Amino acid sequence: MEKQTNGKARTNDEEKIQESHEAQANMWKFVFGFTELAVIKCAIELGIADFLEKNQEPISLNQLSVALGCCSSSLYRILRFLINRGIFKETSTKSGKSGYVQTPLSRLLIKEGENSMAAFLLFESSPVMLASWHNLSARISSKDNSLSSFEAAHGKDVWKYAEADPKHSNLLNNAMACDARIAISAIIDDCPEIFKGVNTIVDVGGGDGTTLRLLVEAFPWINGINFDLPHVASVAPHAIGVVHVGDDMFNYVPKADAAFLMWVLHDWSDEECIQILTKCREAIPQDNGKVKILEAIIGEKEENIIRGSNNKKLKDVGLMLDMVMMAHTSNGKERTTKEWAYVLNEAGFNRHTISHINVVQSVIQAYPSRFLPCSETNLKCKLCWFIFKWVLHDWSDEECIQILTKCREAIPQDNGKVIILEAIVGEKEESIIRGSNNEKLKDGLMLDMVMMAHTTNGKERTSKEWAYVLNEAGFNRHTISHINAVQSVIQAYPS
Ligand SMILES: C[S@@+](CC[C@H](N)C(=O)[O-])C[C@H]1O[C@@H](n2cnc3c(N)ncnc32)[C@H](O)[C@@H]1O
Repeated sequence: MEKQTNGKARTNDEEKIQESHEAQANMWKFVFGFTELAVIKCAIELGIADFLEKNQEPISLNQLSVALGCCSSSLYRILRFLINRGIFKETSTKSGKSGYVQTPLSRLLIKEGENSMAAFLLFESSPVMLASWHNLSARISSKDNSLSSFEAAHGKDVWKYAEADPKHSNLLNNAMACDARIAISAIIDDCPEIFKGVNTIVDVGGGDGTTLRLLVEAFPWINGINFDLPHVASVAPHAIGVVHVGDDMFNYVPKADAAFLMWVLHDWSDEECIQILTKCREAIPQDNGKVKILEAIIGEKEENIIRGSNNKKLKDVGLMLDMVMMAHTSNGKERTTKEWAYVLNEAGFNRHTISHINVVQSVIQAYPSRFLPCSETNLKCKLCWFIFKWVLHDWSDEECIQILTKCREAIPQDNGKVIILEAIVGEKEESIIRGSNNEKLKDGLMLDMVMMAHTTNGKERTSKEWAYVLNEAGFNRHTISHINAVQSVIQAYPS
């Protein structure tokens, strides 16, 4: 018996030792995590991938070091490291000697390649961008969180810095252009239909115009307005079908059929996003305009980007991007679906769809409300399609479903809605569910008794019962807001 106990204890100890060794090994990877970034940067600067790509056959160390003007023993060590990481491969030359060739990974390091990610890596590994990471803990521990890590390092925010330093601005624009090539090619392949019937698009924060150049090439009926800060728009290269306009998106957004925002909103706080999106909403037609947003969408907890199943490999990028936003911007962040719904709704978009494509970003399409967001104060909203006050509680569930079905048929299916003002009772003996300033109105159950006395089948309903009748009548989404009255506001949207 004692022996057995000793045996178990030994196993536990061995497990602990094993775990500790694994933890140490993992920690070394973090300790030297920067080496991958640094060595890949070195390979880009030396032009290793460019030379191998030009030659299309295995290149010996000697040939490579002569061509690149490098010390061959150092170059050998750099290549050994990169080959170990799957970047470049060693194989035999025609004469049977050892030579280096490209891999799919190393092809992404060709400086001018269509799919190149070299510019992005050079931007993120620049001393300017790396400096802000050293101030991350100071930012987090500062009480008001007001000074961004980037500002602490450079005395101004990332956009002002770029305005003052054209070289850095160029590095930033090139990095964004390299991501634009990847993301836009995925949109063109995966969801070209979103550009049907769109004649003008304004790309808000469009950088050097690469996005619109590619969209206009693919969909030649589109006229593009590339809109960015003056120091960016003024140096953007000419592109057929694209005009460059320089201004501040917080002041104004040029009018167009659709507004496009890629990797812009994640740079800003919720309040700032609402301001930008409100300007976009004002810039597009209220009846059929759209805002198209390309951003990563992260999960609620530690799960990462939510996306199509073919993108499992991008799982880690969402939360890394969120850290990048924390280091480089004042209040930017990656958002969950709920957080996106909040900013869109507050900016007056009552409906949006999300499509996952084969890149880090998803496509969010948002449609303007016919009316401003229904905060309790503008409930009189005369533009709403239907307002029902104290009607449905007079009727049975079946009758409510009939009435609501008629209403649904009467409103536009894309952006119509029904607004219902009714009391909402609790599940059990608790009464009306409502805002805290309404304690006095707690007695919703009295109304239910009134319905019983005065109508044939009327009743007050719980939120579950409202969900049931709405759903049965073909409204697949509804929201409930509690106001300072007996009734709450239910807004229902057709499926
Ligand atoms: C992260 S970059 C994205 C560029 C581009 N949309 C892309 O994804 O390739 C953000 C862009 O927003 C622009 N920007 C920042 N503040 C702006 C403002 N107030 N008005 C207009 N553009 C702004 C920056 O100059 C930059 O080009």
